[in-house]
Amino acid sequence: MCGIVGYIGDRLAVPNALNCLKALEYRGYDSAGVAYADGTELKICKMVGKLENLTSHLKNKIIPSSCAIGHTRWATHGEPNKQNAHPHADYYKMLAVVHNGIIENYLELKNELEKKGYKFYSATDTEVFANLLSFYLIEQNPLLKGYYAVRNTMHNTLHSTYKIDEKCIIKALHSVVLKCKGSFAVAVLMRGYDDVIFFAKNKSPLIIGKGENENFIASDTPALIGCCKKFYSIKDGEIGYITKDRIAVFDENLKVLKLNFKTVNIRPEQVILGNYSHFMEKEIEQGADSVTETINRIEQMKILERISPKIFDNFDLHITACGTALHAGLIAKCVIEDKLKIPVDLDYASEFRYKKPLISSKSICLFISQSGETADTLSCVELSNSVGATTIAFTNVAGSRMESLVDYIIPTSAGPEIAVASTKAYMAQLAAIYQFIEYLAKIKGITIEFSSDSVKNAVLKNKYINYYKELEDVVQEIKDEESVYFIGRGIDYLLSLEGALKLKEVSYIHCEAMPAGELKHGSLALVRKDCFVIAILTQKELYDKTLNNIYELNSRGAKVILFSPFKELRNIVYKQILIPETEPVLSPFVAMKPLQCLAYATAIARGNDPDKPRNLAKSVTVE
Ligand code: F6R
Repeated sequence: MCGIVGYIGDRLAVPNALNCLKALEYRGYDSAGVAYADGTELKICKMVGKLENLTSHLKNKIIPSSCAIGHTRWATHGEPNKQNAHPHADYYKMLAVVHNGIIENYLELKNELEKKGYKFYSATDTEVFANLLSFYLIEQNPLLKGYYAVRNTMHNTLHSTYKIDEKCIIKALHSVVLKCKGSFAVAVLMRGYDDVIFFAKNKSPLIIGKGENENFIASDTPALIGCCKKFYSIKDGEIGYITKDRIAVFDENLKVLKLNFKTVNIRPEQVILGNYSHFMEKEIEQGADSVTETINRIEQMKILERISPKIFDNFDLHITACGTALHAGLIAKCVIEDKLKIPVDLDYASEFRYKKPLISSKSICLFISQSGETADTLSCVELSNSVGATTIAFTNVAGSRMESLVDYIIPTSAGPEIAVASTKAYMAQLAAIYQFIEYLAKIKGITIEFSSDSVKNAVLKNKYINYYKELEDVVQEIKDEESVYFIGRGIDYLLSLEGALKLKEVSYIHCEAMPAGELKHGSLALVRKDCFVIAILTQKELYDKTLNNIYELNSRGAKVILFSPFKELRNIVYKQILIPETEPVLSPFVAMKPLQCLAYATAIARGNDPDKPRNLAKSVTVE
């Protein structure tokens, strides 16, 4: 949540910062802003709303600055207005800060600063960070207070008149970091020090990108694809600075670190739209490839073989995740319990932590997270580590914080997922989960009826089906509805949970998923004549039971849209979306795509931006 960037180098800084910021917009789009040094002054420009508002505002301005920091905001403290937009300046206007995260003790710090004469213009915790840094700098040289009044302040002046250098600024930043509780990735630009960007990180992601006569910092790697090839993932507690040709990182004791830069295999075409109208459309299409790539990579790199079979001798199994990732976890629980007869405890990450979970050193805790940065899930990893449980993460973003915390990583290879609504990452999560189940079955000597190959074949069955055409009429009919209900049984119910989440988050139609058998226990009261119910029926075993529920809905005048491979049901329902037939256990690999297409097409029909649904952000780095 919130994306930050910094550019310093030979090229124009502001357009470069804006360009990198574009790839971070999925992290929030309540407002956007940049701060840059224009030779004598520190300028801040910010606009409410999506980044394009800021970009068009700055379009015809040539800003000859070689150093800029930028921010795209998902509001946490204070409403999404211009005042609360980043970058934030300190009271003395000597520095500007962009920040991703939450300073938990900001009110206490704000009170202390107010007593020292600091005045605040925003409701943000970031402004507190800026002022605390200003306070520690002034502590080193009280003359700096007059600094704001000095025009034409250049680097040299700051250095010679006020005896401020990188060392002093790092020292002040270090004091701020020690005072602040919570999560933060910050970038700081100092007035009069316009050839350096300072940074600090704790819990929120931040990377350095190394270029030729230019360097970058950003919240994640996709923001820098096409800009540079070498990356360093800044660790918690580290602080430092970049110039156009120098990078310095210090640990918690201010010891200089030797950096190990890595090359990341993300191709530029993976982060551009190409021939698609939206990333969501592109990513739904990439679902099949992400399944295949995930399976191939896990096999080629022998990822599962790295997990010691011994941990499976005497263990209890737990799954924790949020949102769509949790829905992938629900399928894991269902298949593991059904095929391997191993009980699985599953929780929303936001609940797991507070329910005093029954975990111990013999527990195996699985975490599913596209970003590997979700705060709720991360705190569950920490909790599981603290009792000595074995922790295994299914993650999509290499180098994420989750990867650094767990014992084993099972990578999903969906590639960068840019649309806020998760689609291809869910498919990749399922692929990795099914492989994990296959591996566990092998260890336990249990024969199961699927394999990596059958998973790959199942997902390919959708390849030539144009679901958008099939769904055209349905979309026109449901687009003006207030509520749409989803039903299913067994795996079909788990798919309806994800189908409903997808539709509601991009269309803003109220959607509710329920087990078909539960309808009679209350929810049927909501069903009126002509209301739409999406039914999913892929499980032969549950055919008759679900069919009975469809009859019950028909007799109350509901319009049932059925997603099913069973052609004979066509005349029983209002409309059928025919999906390919497959082994029941593999149905998620064929049934999810049409549900994702339904969500995307409905969002478009309602005039919504499916890539940036209101109020949401992709990486939920706050609890
Ligand atoms: C919904 C969606 C979210 C995420 C959830 C967890 O489309 O994307 O529900 O699945 O916020 O995020 P990760 O997987 O990054 O932990």
